[in-house]
Amino acid sequence: MSRDTLLLGQTLTFNADPFKAGADAAWHEVHGAVLLRAGHIHAVGRAEVLRAKHPEAHVTDHGAHLILPGFIDAHAHYPQTAVIASWGKRLIDWLNIYTFPEEMRFGDPAHAAKIARCYFDLTLAAGTTTVASYCTVHPASVTAFFVEAQRRGLRALAGKTCMDRNAPAALRDTAQSAYDDSKMLLERWHGVDRLSCIITPRFSPTSTPGQLAALGALWADHPDCLMQTHLSEQTDEIAWVKSLFPKARDYLDTYESHGLLGPSAVFGHAIHLEPREIARLTETGASLVHCPTSNTFIGSGLFDMGLARRLRVGLATDTGGGSSFSMLRTMAAAYEIGQLRGHALHPAELLWLATGGSAQALWLEDRIGRLAPGLEADLVVLNLASTPAIAQRAARANDIWEAIFPTIMMGDDRAIVQVYVAGCPIQIRREEPAVAARDVAAHFARARTAGTRNA
Ligand code: GUN
Ligand code: ZN
Repeated sequence: MSRDTLLLGQTLTFNADPFKAGADAAWHEVHGAVLLRAGHIHAVGRAEVLRAKHPEAHVTDHGAHLILPGFIDAHAHYPQTAVIASWGKRLIDWLNIYTFPEEMRFGDPAHAAKIARCYFDLTLAAGTTTVASYCTVHPASVTAFFVEAQRRGLRALAGKTCMDRNAPAALRDTAQSAYDDSKMLLERWHGVDRLSCIITPRFSPTSTPGQLAALGALWADHPDCLMQTHLSEQTDEIAWVKSLFPKARDYLDTYESHGLLGPSAVFGHAIHLEPREIARLTETGASLVHCPTSNTFIGSGLFDMGLARRLRVGLATDTGGGSSFSMLRTMAAAYEIGQLRGHALHPAELLWLATGGSAQALWLEDRIGRLAPGLEADLVVLNLASTPAIAQRAARANDIWEAIFPTIMMGDDRAIVQVYVAGCPIQIRREEPAVAARDVAAHFARARTAGTRNA
């Protein structure tokens, strides 16, 4: 049996959901410790107590750095890695102009494998240890994601994105092939190591009623799977849904009437909800995922965080609609959206959303998302003084919340000191970007001559 590891540092543990219990739900230790055994958290407590109790453990001292559960990104599109930060479009045009052409490239398994590697390098460097990702219509894009996650020992979730209308022919499946491919992937990957398959209709505009019903039937046969999709992100999109489903009571009803609403449904965005939709989401116990950098970047609207008091709400980057791979940046954007709605989210609420809240939204709270005995040892260690600007502000802090808030608002990869995956410290890749500045300049000079984009 391998030796226990005792991590020392500041620790924050959540005993409850701060949206329901307030900031007192979190317990802070200045001299804290986390004992890791066989990939799991065995004990959490005060350094002197755990040191005395486990003298044989190998000690890693993180000093004044803060040990937290690894961040959980509850909604992302790994295939959009290379088109993040694409300028000037709202949702439907952004999909057609930037996203769909890039997703077409995932018909090539080598491209999918290359982007999956790049994606996990970026997210791990940002302190994210679990992602729930949409893939593309191609089953090979799901395989590439899971192979890479499995190689790194990560807990990860993903689904084949299903679309049988309103998308380019090269990205369309059918009701039958969506059912067959999703089932095949589920039988191959669901529950293997730390991987889970999610049934994934992209959104109602790109699925016929027949496809939604087929995926509803698949979900009924595999109720232990999550189902993820998009809901009420932009007003134009909602008007489009109304025209495509004239008999539906509202957007949510397009899913509900095809068997795609239940406690393990995970709806991304959910900004412009009608009262009936909120009531049904609450009754059924479905999860919502707030994607704040995406909502500002694509111009979608301001999520109502008051919903976190009645529903499971997670936090996510929504890359590449979102403008960052970092859950720190994502927490900052959630704070800013809260301010625009007249409610300042407490740092405890922001950290909870990125850890325990996302774990709950994905029904993984008994596995990840908190520093608690029995949970898997996916951790991030934060430097709360990672840049001069942050350090000078944190030096004035009177408590842990004031100490951590500058890192939430201004922190980036430089704040990530160490990441642990299933108890193992991982090497964070911080070398020079694979594409050098001169290659970028050469690329757009070529594109200008050829009059093309993304060649
Ligand atoms: N709605 C349907 N597909 C997408 C997507 O890829 N990104 C975002 N942000 N919204 C969507
Ligand atoms: Zn999305």
